[in-house]
Amino acid sequence: MKHIDNIPSTPGKVKMEKSPYNRLRIHFSLAKLTFWSFVFLGLIFVFFYRSPASTSPVSSDLSRRSLRTNSYGGPDWEKRIKASAKVRSRNGISVLVTGAAGFVGTHVSVALKRRGDGVLGLDNFNEYYDPSLKRARQALLERTGVHVVEGDINDATLLKKLFDIVPFSHVMHLAAQAGVRYAMENPGSYVHSNIAGLVNVLEICKSVNPQPAIVWASSSSVYGLNTKVPFSEKDRTDQPASLYAATKKAGEEIAHTYNHIYGLSLTGLRFFTVYGPWGRPDMAYFFFTRDILKGKSIPIFEAANHGTVARDFTYIDDIVKGCLAALDTAEKSTGSGGKKKDPAQLRVFNLGNTSPVPVSDLVSILERLLKVKAKRLVMKLPRNGDVQFTHANISSAHKELGYKPTTDLQTGLKKFVRWYLNYYGNGKKSAQ
Ligand SMILES: NC(=O)c1ccc[n+]([C@@H]2O[C@H](COP(=O)([O-])OP(=O)(O)OC[C@H]3O[C@@H](n4cnc5c(N)ncnc54)[C@H](O)[C@@H]3O)[C@@H](O)[C@H]2O)c1
Repeated sequence: MKHIDNIPSTPGKVKMEKSPYNRLRIHFSLAKLTFWSFVFLGLIFVFFYRSPASTSPVSSDLSRRSLRTNSYGGPDWEKRIKASAKVRSRNGISVLVTGAAGFVGTHVSVALKRRGDGVLGLDNFNEYYDPSLKRARQALLERTGVHVVEGDINDATLLKKLFDIVPFSHVMHLAAQAGVRYAMENPGSYVHSNIAGLVNVLEICKSVNPQPAIVWASSSSVYGLNTKVPFSEKDRTDQPASLYAATKKAGEEIAHTYNHIYGLSLTGLRFFTVYGPWGRPDMAYFFFTRDILKGKSIPIFEAANHGTVARDFTYIDDIVKGCLAALDTAEKSTGSGGKKKDPAQLRVFNLGNTSPVPVSDLVSILERLLKVKAKRLVMKLPRNGDVQFTHANISSAHKELGYKPTTDLQTGLKKFVRWYLNYYGNGKKSAQ
């Protein structure tokens, strides 16, 4: 029954014993206790800091991408923000552009600034693709008078602060984790930016007074396995072929909720394969150009039974016109103090070129422009998120926004190649 005697009478309290032998035993148990405490703490450390990414892609991604706590605030910082967001034209609007250092964000911000609107950018400069390209776009924006705040759309304190400084009339929400294939590598980044980030942006927008009108980027990928062409906004979008598509589709449903409950004016734009100068290095037209110049082979996918893979490639300037028209026709949000007063506008538009081009034709155009023969490697379309074709019906955008794309692929690629050769020094310095 000795073991029972050793159990403290009150849990948590140690029974004091007096003999030197017992003192020795206490010392010994203390040493043991200290030793095991260290072992235990060590194990906790190893568990939290060394757990492999594969155990929980979402949480590990979030810890890696924990919101960067950039020091912000102070009179100089606020002055820069106010100057950037200052409206300079009559009837101009003040716009917070999220994802401003991204491909579309840069072009939209420059276009808004040039016509006299107030523009403030926000971007977290993540490393999904070469951040030096984002920094170069930022430098271009700063030269145009657009300041880009470095921060994450999940940072509610930062967003609130920005709205305290400038009562933005509009938000152009473009920040997102783009790309379909990367979702198999880092699914958490899609949840972080496209779901949690979107909800955070909408939470802030619904709570500020006045509420801004929001235009945001959805994607043609929501059509997923839809086979009815051309894709119309009325077609089904419940068969996403990638996690990226699923998060954009979820975004459209989330937008519906915030419109319904809080009276936020929301316009979703389904972009179709946007290309052009300052583009994204993860997109085919961009890395094909890089690899053709390097003499590396490029994969040309074909669908089952040698089916053609085609895309409705849309030139960036046409997309920018669609974005600006969406901002200009957006009605005011109707809520205040977090409560809806009246029904608010809720729209979704396709922004495409309505003229799909086989990917092999895209390569032929690039060969002519670069004056280099491509090493084509024809492969079966892998089942990793890509769909066989995209084709936009743009009648709704045409009617409501006056949207009318004017750049064909040949003309647009010529402008892209000119930029590429200039930016990367005639291919000597090449894209990563
Ligand atoms: N380019 C296309 O072909 C295309 C097609 C369909 C939809 N879209 C959508 O259009 C939008 C713009 O696309 P893009 O091609 O310019 O992509 P991009 O990756 O060049 O731009 C997105 C920007 O958002 C930033 N960002 C990402 N997560 C963020 C976060 N949590 N907080 C702050 N900033 C963050 C990135 O750093 C990046 O600069 C995206 O929403 C994208 O999903 C693009």
